[in-house]
Amino acid sequence: MSEFDILYNQYDQVGEAYLAAKKTSETAALQYTNSRKKILDIAGSLKGLQILDAGCGSGIDAETYLKAGVAGVSAFDSSEYMVHVAQQNQPSQLVEFKQGRFESIPFPDASVDIALSFFALHYVFNLDDAWRELHRVLKPGGRFIFIVPHPYNSPQGFYEKKGVTEKGIEVVEMRVYGGAVNICCPRLCLEHYFSPVFASLFHLDVFQETRFSQFTAELTIGVTKLN
Ligand SMILES: C[S@@+](CC[C@H](N)C(=O)[O-])C[C@H]1O[C@@H](n2cnc3c(N)ncnc32)[C@H](O)[C@@H]1O
Repeated sequence: MSEFDILYNQYDQVGEAYLAAKKTSETAALQYTNSRKKILDIAGSLKGLQILDAGCGSGIDAETYLKAGVAGVSAFDSSEYMVHVAQQNQPSQLVEFKQGRFESIPFPDASVDIALSFFALHYVFNLDDAWRELHRVLKPGGRFIFIVPHPYNSPQGFYEKKGVTEKGIEVVEMRVYGGAVNICCPRLCLEHYFSPVFASLFHLDVFQETRFSQFTAELTIGVTKLN
């Protein structure tokens, strides 16, 4: 267990404040519409597909997927609290919420057609473990589309350095939704996302950088599983 393991459960502590801030924050509303639209546009039709909602949080996207006519939604999140909230709002028997991490996804091999993830992958300290797991659960030719804060976001007004892991990755504290909640995560660089392990398992299809505010931007990435 690393000294930063505790960060995987931090939404157990900040989850309630995060969800409350999300309801009133203009940034959250903008993110909800803009970011979702970007990912769904790249994904195309979801009809009949088994979706993996990776880092599903409170499960706010499940209903969108059901409306799109998916076969089912396999959703996971590392925080017990967030999964509990998601299960309380269980929208259909077609949706399964489980507690689990990107590094150990709680679903079987080759069980999903497409994995979608909103603002969760940037919490993962060892992305190579996540790439291996995503490759394992995707069916042949399956795709993964995700959105994360841009790795080179300006720290000004957004985050503060907290420490460095044994592997030299900076840990920063982000001021989320204008300071309503402070959340720690690794400060990943593009070389962490697009590692040799990534290149051996996936093909990069889409790479979009979108400026979101004076200091911040987002990265939207679409990849396809190599068989
Ligand atoms: C900013 S929230 C986004 C939640 C949801 N996707 C949404 O857009 O509302 C980030 C989520 O990632 C989860 N998370 C953090 N590290 C994770 C990991 N290693 N594996 C799975 N989920 C993780 C957190 O518990 C949290 O619920």
